Amino acid sequence: MLDTLRSVIRFRPIELDSTTRRLQRAASVEDLRAIARRRLPGGVFDYIDGAAEDERALHRNSEAFARLGLAPRVLRDVSAIDTTTSLFGRTLPLPLVLSPTGFSRIADPQGELAVARAAERAGLPYTLSTMGTRSIEEVRSVSGGDLWFQVYVWRDRGLVGEMLERAAAAGYSTIAVTVDTAVLGRRERDVRRGFTLPPKIGLDTIVDGIRNPSWTWSFVRAEPIRFANVRSGADDGSNTAVNLSQYINSQFDPSLSWDDIDWFRSRWNGKVVVKGIQSVADARIAVDHGVDGIALSNHGGRQLDDAPAPIELVAPVADAVGGRVAILCDGGVRRGSDIVKAVALGADACMIGRAYLYGLGAGGEQGVTHVLDLLAEGMRRTMALSGVASVKELDRDLVDPGR
Ligand code: FNR
Repeated sequence: MLDTLRSVIRFRPIELDSTTRRLQRAASVEDLRAIARRRLPGGVFDYIDGAAEDERALHRNSEAFARLGLAPRVLRDVSAIDTTTSLFGRTLPLPLVLSPTGFSRIADPQGELAVARAAERAGLPYTLSTMGTRSIEEVRSVSGGDLWFQVYVWRDRGLVGEMLERAAAAGYSTIAVTVDTAVLGRRERDVRRGFTLPPKIGLDTIVDGIRNPSWTWSFVRAEPIRFANVRSGADDGSNTAVNLSQYINSQFDPSLSWDDIDWFRSRWNGKVVVKGIQSVADARIAVDHGVDGIALSNHGGRQLDDAPAPIELVAPVADAVGGRVAILCDGGVRRGSDIVKAVALGADACMIGRAYLYGLGAGGEQGVTHVLDLLAEGMRRTMALSGVASVKELDRDLVDPGR
């Protein structure tokens, strides 16, 4: 009996680093989400995880991926899988770009710096948000990688022009102009909690704070969270907490139109991506305005609750404008197989938001790297099991839309 026991008992070496230990147990993005949920105060987790109104668009984004089956081929020599691709003249190790997400420092004190470093290590572009809590220059100082800057169009165009100049001076390659935020979507989890940015630690949140001591401790020790890229009304340096929808609705310009895209085109020498295209008709117009890329996106379901799932737009948009403009699919990407499906249907790359924020909340920079590794491995494995050796071999025959 002792011999049998000896042959089956294997103790894993004890991992001394608590973050590594935590991440080792996360086999998927969903596992990282569960860890982030335990570690972050409820209001912070809900700000990241939540979406508009009944959260139908949020769920539709994932369900639309789940509905697509794959039609694998076999006996095709998949001993060498190549996930590299080219986007805007650069080679990427996989067709993936990190989407902009504001206020990343609420998930981890390093915030955008941690995400930018992890993206550079993985060789992937990182998009810094206008609403970032680290500045254009700070992010560049920690990353020599490909950086994109996401632009929200402020009523004060002088401010926008200034941000573009700073991004150009810091060597950002691409701007992503977000066009789905004429007004802020109603995120009802935030409304219920009275969520503000930066989060208030008052009587109402004190219990949350006690329940999440490591987050609270690092939050109160770190320098105050601020909007690092915009200097205007609500960010007067006083670090006053603001209600996001009031702030955005007072600052963003709802009169934004295609003329403004021409303005961006003429002001920016790098690549221009319009983020938030949600129809074939608008994809065509975007091409007529000379943009380099379109991000099919419903803002992760955070804006219009009945918006279409971006993955469902990929094939029709690729039929209409593919080859003339880069097509990015943003929303609901949680697995490597999702990237395979999007690219097979005609996308040039996918973008991810929450996936890396869950990693950031679960384990800081290491957590983001874990997510990027999971997606890369997942993509390789899906391709191998589907009989596809390289990205250029991915085509619609692989996708079974009717499952
Ligand atoms: C976002 N998103 C976003 N988009 C943008 O253009 N500017 C921004 O500042 C933000 N901020 C932001 C914060 C948080 C917490 C989330 C979750 C999302 C939208 C983001 O860029 C992307 O479109 C979605 O996150 C994609 O959907 P998934 O990957 O989260 O499902």
